[in-house]
Amino acid sequence: MNITTIKLENIDIELILTNANDLEKTFDFELLKKLSFKAEQDDLCFLPESNKLYVGYSDDISSSIATSFRFVSTKEYINNIKLTTSLDDQESIYQIVIGAFLGNYKFDKYKSKKIDIHIKSLYISTPSEKDFSETIKKATTIANSTNFTRDIVNMTPDDCYPKVLAKIATTLANENNLECNILKQKQIEKEKMNALLAVARASRHDPRVIHLSHKPKNAKRKVLIIGKGLTYDSGGLSLKPSDFMTTMKSDKSGACAVLGIMKSVSELNIDIEVHGFIGAVENMIGGDSFKPDDVLVAKNGKTIEVRNTDAEGRLVLADVLDFAQQEISEFDYIIDLATLTGACVVGVGNYTTGIMGHNENLKNKMKECAKKSGEFATPLDFNRFLAKTLKNEVADICNISNTRYGGALTAGLFLSEFIKDENKDKWLHLDIAGPAYVEHIWGVNPHGASGAGVRMVVEFLESL
Ligand code: BES
Ligand code: ZN
Ligand code: ZN
Repeated sequence: MNITTIKLENIDIELILTNANDLEKTFDFELLKKLSFKAEQDDLCFLPESNKLYVGYSDDISSSIATSFRFVSTKEYINNIKLTTSLDDQESIYQIVIGAFLGNYKFDKYKSKKIDIHIKSLYISTPSEKDFSETIKKATTIANSTNFTRDIVNMTPDDCYPKVLAKIATTLANENNLECNILKQKQIEKEKMNALLAVARASRHDPRVIHLSHKPKNAKRKVLIIGKGLTYDSGGLSLKPSDFMTTMKSDKSGACAVLGIMKSVSELNIDIEVHGFIGAVENMIGGDSFKPDDVLVAKNGKTIEVRNTDAEGRLVLADVLDFAQQEISEFDYIIDLATLTGACVVGVGNYTTGIMGHNENLKNKMKECAKKSGEFATPLDFNRFLAKTLKNEVADICNISNTRYGGALTAGLFLSEFIKDENKDKWLHLDIAGPAYVEHIWGVNPHGASGAGVRMVVEFLESL
């Protein structure tokens, strides 16, 4: 889809973006009133005779645009859209473009009949003659990266296993001029990433550790982004009940977000050195499964008693976090993204990311960036009492806490054990278990993968 502010000739439909306050000023006010259109958030009103679609908004422009695009995208006769709006600031145009691309997203890889999207061009008609080309370009890049992430998350576990994730990373690196280093089984063994290897052991697919880097000259800052890449999480011997196992192809969402972020930073040429690390593993069952009762020696030397093989993400991340800190000794921030706990979803719901860490300001900064980017995220605060619940009689720590409560935080506190003291204040943990994969449409997001984390972290990197 081509987006422009230059007048298009053949318009097939006009979208009119309006809020409740401006409704009276619209051309069709009397008619809209009869149709009880109130221009509330995501309200649509189609007038077939004049070929207009009125679109309401209150505080989420992207969501309104996405909703209207879902309405028009499969209509065969609609190729060129005109969008009329009284908004003409860069921020609003940015949100419009994001909404158009994210709302237009369709995943039909597994449909025998492909979905035809007929939209070719979107002409945004604004009151002023301002130049929005940079804004449109940037929004297009970030939206496309988000959709790129969605496409990978939505792949089935049989199509996307660690080797495939590594292949996707290699291709991205080649296309976007990123440095790329892939560790296979032998090299992972050499690095003593035994916690990760234990999780991977029962799978017919070998694990991979992926390292992508974007290294601009004279970079202002250096940031490490780490992603949980469980291409499938069956739970292992602590097997998930069937109802909880479906959707676990999405347990690679943190890794896929890292890929989307690397795509964005390279295409936007952000002047920050960004290193993306991914632990790509499949958690399966078999005669050689790792077991509850096993004691693992993590890469950093700490011993872990396994009491639940379904708390595997933290085992994988433990080793990848340590590997990242070993490979890049000096940096400004280290941020991990993971679908880490069901408890986070229980705590804050399906749509919100949990932000954890030891640095109050950093957590608040990420919260602001999430909001600005159109994502929901909220800080969850650690405390010393929850930290004690990971204590263990047999090994240094346990992979699950001894309390049923506060599971998102105790998982975060487990990860903290693998962040070096000097880096504790540079670290953020983002639990995206809720928003990464939701089985219904919400705002700009479709059924399935949302690309959670991409917009928020890119916004954070841009703000540095
Ligand atoms: N991948 C899951 C967490 C998850 C749950 C992600 C729901 C997305 C939606 C993770 O590996 C897991 O199974 N966590 C356990 C931890 C427990 C055993 C301490 C959980 O949340 O139940
Ligand atoms: Zn699990
Ligand atoms: Zn998992």
